[in-house]
Amino acid sequence: MKVSIVVARGENNVIGKENGLPWHLPSDLRHFKKTTSGHHVVMGRKTFESLGKPLPGRTHIVVTRDEAYQVPEGHYVVNELKEGLNIGKSKGLDKLFILGGAEIYKLSLPFADEMVITEVKGSPEGDTYFPEVDMEKWEEISREPVPKDDANKYAHDFVVYIRKKL
Ligand SMILES: NC(=O)c1ccc[n+]([C@@H]2O[C@H](COP(=O)([O-])OP(=O)(O)OC[C@H]3O[C@@H](n4cnc5c(N)ncnc54)[C@H](OP(=O)(O)O)[C@@H]3O)[C@@H](O)[C@H]2O)c1
Repeated sequence: MKVSIVVARGENNVIGKENGLPWHLPSDLRHFKKTTSGHHVVMGRKTFESLGKPLPGRTHIVVTRDEAYQVPEGHYVVNELKEGLNIGKSKGLDKLFILGGAEIYKLSLPFADEMVITEVKGSPEGDTYFPEVDMEKWEEISREPVPKDDANKYAHDFVVYIRKKL
């Protein structure tokens, strides 16, 4: 099973602000939907709550230390990231997406095979940051630049990185 991190990050590594996103980029939301629809997605409790309700067409695995935490039927709660990865493996999934936030990205990075990063061309203010990554260990395999326009205040590139084989 391939573990794929999906994130939109600024040039300053920002990913979040006041439990939401630091930007409004409809183009990225479409890309995110296309990438993750039909899949199982792992996220921290804070990111899950920031959504308001589960994302349609995706099975959520929510990571929390709260053993009594409840999610709607058809979704999962785990108390450790490893448990979430094991759900994916036991279901025979080809791919499991990690959707953040910062705490869950940090826990997941050692297990990730792929990173689907929206590189936002700007450094807006925020309070949550993607963890430091040694990019020497990753190979860029695709990049699609998107210019800014009336609906999308920041230009951004959709980039896919895979972990280099040692
Ligand atoms: N730009 C992007 O692509 C992107 C993507 C996702 C999220 N975000 C943003 O990131 C921010 C949220 O990120 P965050 O780092 O604050 O929160 P988070 O990673 O979404 O969730 C943190 C929660 O995960 C649980 N957790 C963390 N480590 C754990 C462990 N070792 N074992 C069990 N549970 C654990 C805890 O839940 P409990 O407190 O319930 O125990 C913790 O409070 C928001 O602003 C969101 O909008 C941005």
